[in-house]
Amino acid sequence: MEKNNEPKILAIETSCDETAAAVLIGAKIKSNIIYSQLNLHKKTKGIVPEVASRAHIEKIILVIKQALQAARVRPLQIDLIAVTVGPGLIGSLLVGVDTAKTLGFIWDKSIVPVNHIEGHIYANFIGKLPATSYKLPTFPAVALVVSGGHTSLILMRGHGNYKLLGSTLDDAAGEAFDKVARILDLGYPGGPAISAAAESCQQTAAGCQLSLPRPMIKTNNFDFSFSGLKTAVLYTVQDLKKHYKVTQLPNYTITAVAAEFQQAVVDVLVNKTIKAARKYNAKSILLGGGVAANKLLRRQLRSAVKKELPVSCFLFPALSLCTDNAAMIGLCAYYKYLADKKNLKNWREIKIDLNPKL
Ligand code: KG4
Ligand code: ZN
Repeated sequence: MEKNNEPKILAIETSCDETAAAVLIGAKIKSNIIYSQLNLHKKTKGIVPEVASRAHIEKIILVIKQALQAARVRPLQIDLIAVTVGPGLIGSLLVGVDTAKTLGFIWDKSIVPVNHIEGHIYANFIGKLPATSYKLPTFPAVALVVSGGHTSLILMRGHGNYKLLGSTLDDAAGEAFDKVARILDLGYPGGPAISAAAESCQQTAAGCQLSLPRPMIKTNNFDFSFSGLKTAVLYTVQDLKKHYKVTQLPNYTITAVAAEFQQAVVDVLVNKTIKAARKYNAKSILLGGGVAANKLLRRQLRSAVKKELPVSCFLFPALSLCTDNAAMIGLCAYYKYLADKKNLKNWREIKIDLNPKL
């Protein structure tokens, strides 16, 4: 343990397609190493779970070694191990969880199991950085977690105190970005591809006579649905091809569809988040997950908070902490450790939990 009693944490994240390890001292991130499997999954335009777990096995030890080296921390100086135990792909989770358990056994260290969604929220808890105006979130907070596997609005009344306000009834927002990118032949992963296409769009959606639905935007709850929007894009593309008698749409039409789709997703996410924040008097509005990297979402949610909830503060993670990483898992573990130092778990008690409750 550090002189100031801050634990040295080795965090491991392998829930999907990033093999990640990080070292933290307390809430300070000392290293954050990510081996992305992107190139492997580009070939199949999506993740093949078996391929993902094999790649985790190949890289996990190397990634952990790099995280320790970059942090200049020796294995035996580690006080705690943090690991994602779910939700995620079972084969991928197994690699991280079994590695953490093995290290916990060999080094005789406690393990803090972390829920991946909670990790995305805690990417906002990096603490005060020197020479920045970054603040820590205050409670109550409303968190929007938007990733490839999840779209959830969560009320947080304190550390570890969550109420799930709503979630997607079908596709997650990131999944919709990935599927629409496939329809538009824009490549994988879909989020950055759609975003880049939308930014290069020269025409307004109205100029192209394009209008996509904003699913569930008016419903009196905090649930989402993106599967119908994806189907609307598919039908729109089919109709446009038929109308112009082409098999391939021109680039300016593709970018207009991408821009209108992105705006539709952002409109729904911003609208519901503001509604939830207002209802629960949120002092902070937090964003997390891969889709939190979307510039339009960050910009429009920030201006909506400024306009509608001027006394609340809007926080979003640095881009490197939006998509899957182990630093966010370490941050969450640190706050769990602070809350319950006496009740740490040993390797025997750690299990995968595919549907953990928040
Ligand atoms: O959090 P994450 O790395 O993995 C999961 O937990 O699912 O999120 C990955 C998702 C993908 O669906 C990807 O397309 C989306 O995040 N994403 C984006 C952007 N960057 C990544 N979606 C919209 N705009 C982006 N700039
Ligand atoms: Zn994630």
